[in-house]
Amino acid sequence: MKHSFSLLGLALLLGACTKEIATTPNTSTTTSPSTTSTSYNDLWIPPTLTGTTFNLSLDKSTKQFFSGSVTNTYGYNGANFWGPTLIMNKGDQVQINVKNNLSETTTSHWHGFHIPAEMDGGPHQEVLAGTTWSPNFKVMNNAATYWYHPHLHELTAKQLSLGAGGLIIIKDPEEAALALPRTYGVDDIPLVLTSRKFTSTNVIDYSTAYGDYLLTNGTLNAQMNLPKQMVRLRILNAEIERGYNLGFSDNRTFYIIANDGGLLETPVPVTRVKLVVGERIEILLDLSKDAAGSSLDFKAYNSNLPAGFGGSEPAQSGQFGSLLNNKDFNLLHINVAAASSNPITAVPSSLVKQTTLSASEVTNSRILMVTGGQPNGPAFSFNNVTYDHQTINQTIKLNAVEKWTIMNNNIFGHSFHIHDVQFKIISRSSGTVGIHESGWKDTVYLPVGESVTFLAKFDDFTSTKHPFMYHCHFANHEDAGMMGQFLVIP
Ligand code: C2O
Ligand code: CU
Repeated sequence: MKHSFSLLGLALLLGACTKEIATTPNTSTTTSPSTTSTSYNDLWIPPTLTGTTFNLSLDKSTKQFFSGSVTNTYGYNGANFWGPTLIMNKGDQVQINVKNNLSETTTSHWHGFHIPAEMDGGPHQEVLAGTTWSPNFKVMNNAATYWYHPHLHELTAKQLSLGAGGLIIIKDPEEAALALPRTYGVDDIPLVLTSRKFTSTNVIDYSTAYGDYLLTNGTLNAQMNLPKQMVRLRILNAEIERGYNLGFSDNRTFYIIANDGGLLETPVPVTRVKLVVGERIEILLDLSKDAAGSSLDFKAYNSNLPAGFGGSEPAQSGQFGSLLNNKDFNLLHINVAAASSNPITAVPSSLVKQTTLSASEVTNSRILMVTGGQPNGPAFSFNNVTYDHQTINQTIKLNAVEKWTIMNNNIFGHSFHIHDVQFKIISRSSGTVGIHESGWKDTVYLPVGESVTFLAKFDDFTSTKHPFMYHCHFANHEDAGMMGQFLVIP
């Protein structure tokens, strides 16, 4: 008891005091009599855009997160944080018009997409303030959950922190043939998880690694009514640096059906799954046996995670501290409601047939080592080379099947992401690859002390001018130079 009082005292001294969260009027409170009444805000569900022409405009906005001052934010198409969900069909030729209404340059990257480098929206495809960038490309990826976000070198953390980003859902006939929930906002729910730190005047502080307040689709203390049936949650870790160890408050089993680049072969039953920055999973949550009117919480079980997992640090304040560090905290309060018409009530026994890449196809191997990052030394990097806009770090031949090993004999965990391709993880030095990691991936957790090896085929797109990126997806690490670029040449 004494210990916790002194910790609280310390937290107050350091200014890590909690704010009064602005809740929407008429918001309902928890129905569980055993817990103290908490007020929730209804989860914001991003609107959708469909078709083959997508108009996005990135604007400055404001949002009332807390009582007192409004918070300055960024959002696409009038959203006051984040942006609309783009729904695309595999095989469509799409055009996207990105209008930059900010007073600074941005870019718009289509995370996970297999498209030409000049359409990719990486650091080289600058969209100057007041201008519009109009990439067009064929949607070649499998049905899954992707996202878009700014990728301007050294401004990624700032623009992402202020709210710029959005989801992309790709649909395809294979996915459509399965008995899966797919009514957006009803039984198919997007969950964008992130956290932010705010100053005493409610300004978003984008200089630190971890937020104090969890935002689910930009909503503080989010709740949602979900129908008592099988519900699909599309979950994106849109953090700057924090990872999540996901689960439900009654420790129920849920089923992972997809990760970054598509559906898995079969649903994978788990009670916990880790999701690091940039990764996506889709899960099935079975609410069919829950009583209407009951509630449960979707949570991050982030206490006592291994050192090096983003957010496991004990500090409550300072550069690597936050009020959420090393804690279990809520992501979504779920109120179980009546079933919708024609509900899905079962988990499919199988999903899609995975195509694989085999080690015998490998034409070239590369090793990337995590370097730097020592206190007072140079920032994190790969192979001791920090990102330079003019330097091509790797050159790859078209149609090469490459084996990349990312070694992290360094001081902290990271999230490794590569553009252009989806890859297959074939080994982790710590032992086996998680079965939920068996599908196509574009982002992978790189724990401290571990090496991860994956295979990827660099097909379809070449350029001797326009590079693709690979980087740590912790936006602060990426901005500080933990990024490299590669050309795919004929
Ligand atoms: Cu989600 Cu290179 O980024
Ligand atoms: Cu990193």
